[in-house]
Formats: sequence, structure tokens, C-alpha cells
Amino acid sequence: MEYKTIADTGINVSELCFGTMSFGGIADEKTSEAMFNRSREVGINFFDTANIYNQGRAEEILGKLISSCRDDIVLTSKVGFPAGNGPNEGGTSRRHIFLSIEQSLKRLGTDRIEFYFLHRFDDKTDIEETLIALDDLQRQGKILYPAVSNWAAWQIAKALGISERKALAKFKLIQPMYNLVKRQAEVEILPLAKSEQLGVISYSPLGGGLLTGKYGRTKRPNEGRLIEQRNYQLRYGQEHYYETAERFTHYANVNGYDPAALAVAWVRHHPSITAPIIGARNLEQLEPSLASIDIKLEKGQWEEIASLSSTPPLATDHNESEGIAKR
Ligand SMILES: NC(=O)c1ccc[n+]([C@@H]2O[C@H](COP(=O)([O-])OP(=O)(O)OC[C@H]3O[C@@H](n4cnc5c(N)ncnc54)[C@H](OP(=O)(O)O)[C@@H]3O)[C@@H](O)[C@H]2O)c1
Repeated sequence: MEYKTIADTGINVSELCFGTMSFGGIADEKTSEAMFNRSREVGINFFDTANIYNQGRAEEILGKLISSCRDDIVLTSKVGFPAGNGPNEGGTSRRHIFLSIEQSLKRLGTDRIEFYFLHRFDDKTDIEETLIALDDLQRQGKILYPAVSNWAAWQIAKALGISERKALAKFKLIQPMYNLVKRQAEVEILPLAKSEQLGVISYSPLGGGLLTGKYGRTKRPNEGRLIEQRNYQLRYGQEHYYETAERFTHYANVNGYDPAALAVAWVRHHPSITAPIIGARNLEQLEPSLASIDIKLEKGQWEEIASLSSTPPLATDHNESEGIAKR
């Protein structure tokens, strides 16, 4: 396992981050523990969670697992999506952030979270108000750095400008969705990260299971997130995603790769990505994602694989002289 430094924080993290969205949900406590131990065994020191994963169970389980090795672990958590049905149980208001951090710290059994993510943009709360709340948490030592997920590039850029002007704690890490069929991040998010030297841990490297070889034009597994979860059916509903999955699986098979391992390796090879966040429901699923670190793509191979899906258009319609989106 290799380790990379996140932005200019001096914090070194494994080139794979392990995501705990399955902990306490599709993975019971015993399976979660087995996946955690296996991840530690191969050198992963970086774990992603969120207040809302399985109603806080993911944080609780992760908290127990890190209790004997807390100082060796770099931890994230998140705030922003509704954590309950009450009118103030979501968003990034100062009120909700202050409440949510206490709950996350308690569930995780720790006094600090290294990278604390705003999980989504909240258009009802002033960005500066949110940034001041995060700056306060940093000063209190409850978080080491603010981070952001699922925001548009302009929103992140605006926040970075406010932090600079007001001398507030700055985002050091971002968490966009990114995989072979979801490449929107290439247009503005990843160039922004490069320009502003932000760390990037991207989620869903397998497209929620789409790129593991079990989906194709007409091929569907009996169970799986894309079959069972409405939001994932909507996210990956377009036919061309399944055509790409089939082309990608064929490419992987012909070239002697496990599709899941190659899909994660492809994400990891993007120069702006610090670490893909891998996810699994059991040990068997986890192994190919872990094995991805042994894949070293040849020169030109990233582009070859990228050509199996459509490259997203540039952020300007004045595109005749720009060529394709550059990595
Ligand atoms: N910031 C955000 O908004 C956000 C959103 C999503 C995720 N995340 C983070 O990113 C992490 C990873 O995201 P993700 O779970 O979407 O990643 P992913 O790697 O795209 O999808 C993982 C899913 O793919 C399937 N799978 C994995 N390995 C497989 C294999 N070898 N063979 C067959 N199927 C396999 C499993 O689902 P099935 O068995 O159900 O098919 C598994 O749950 C999460 O745990 C979380 O920490 C963040």
C-alpha cells in the first residue's frame, strides 16, 4: 500500500479509503469487523463514514473497531442529509452542525474527526455561516479540517474565496462521485481540485456495483443495490450505462483483469484523485477492490478505458479549439 499526503495538511493516507456505508446495514457487525480487519491488514488507514449511514449504526460499529487503534486511523464523517424527520435534523446550519458533531463524536468514541464533510449543499443556509461553524469546530479541536461532498465546483470555489477573505478554516478535501460511467467530475471538480491543491476521495468507483461484471445490456443479478434501491435505479437508470458496463466487462475479461479491480484502479490512476473510497457488503466483494492496488495501468491505458464511456462535454460551448477534457 502506498500513502499520499492530503493537500498541504501533512496527513498521510492510504491510496484506498474504506467506506463504511454498508456497516450496520447490508453488512452486519461481524461482517463489518471482518472487512475492517482485512482493510487494516493490507495497510488501509483511512475510513469514511457519515452520521446518516444506517441511522448512526455505521459510526457506532466503526467507533468500536477503531477503539484499539484510533491513533493509527484517519477518520472522516459527514453532516447535511436529514438524520431524522424533525424540521431541524438536516442541513448545514450552525445549529445542526453543532448538534450533529457531538452525536458523531459520541458514536465514534473519539474526541476528533480528521476531515468533517458537508454532505450536500444547503441552499437555506448562508455559506459563510456554515464556514464559521466549521472554523469554530476546528478551533475547538473537534474536527481537524472541513471538507465537502456533492457540491458544484462554483459552490466550492465560492466557499474557498470566503474562507480566504475571512481567514476561516479552508476545505482541504472534497468527495465527488466518480467512476467510468459518472465522469462529470472531470469537467470542473477535478480541475478545481488541481488548481486549489485539494485532496480528492471519490466515491462509488464501481458505480454501486454496475462495473463489477454482473451487469450488462440485458444482464442483471438477482439482488443488488441497483436492483433494489430507488435512488440508485434513478442514478444509474440510463441504458447507455449498462452498454458501457458490458463493454468494460469485455475489455477487462479480454485483458485478464477482474472488472471490479480494474474499475477501482482506473479511478485511482486519475492524477487528481488521492484515493477512491471502496465499498462492499462482504469480504468476498472486498477482495477485488483491495487487489486494485496491484494494477498499474500502462501508458495510454487510462485513455483507452475512458474511451469505453462518453467523455463529458467541456464547461463551455466554445469548445472547437479545446479538444477533449484533459486529465
Ligand atoms: N459522499 C456521498 O454522498 C457518498 C455516496 C455514496 C458513497 N459514499 C462513500 O463511498 C463508499 C463507497 O461507495 P459505494 O458503496 O457507492 O462504492 P461502489 O464501489 O461503487 O459500490 C459498492 C457496491 O458494489 C457492489 N460490489 C462491490 N464489490 C463487488 C464485487 N466484487 N462483486 C459484485 N458486486 C460488488 C456491492 O453492492 P451490491 O452487492 O448491492 O451490488 C457494493 O455495496 C461508501 O461506503 C461511502 O463511504 C459517499
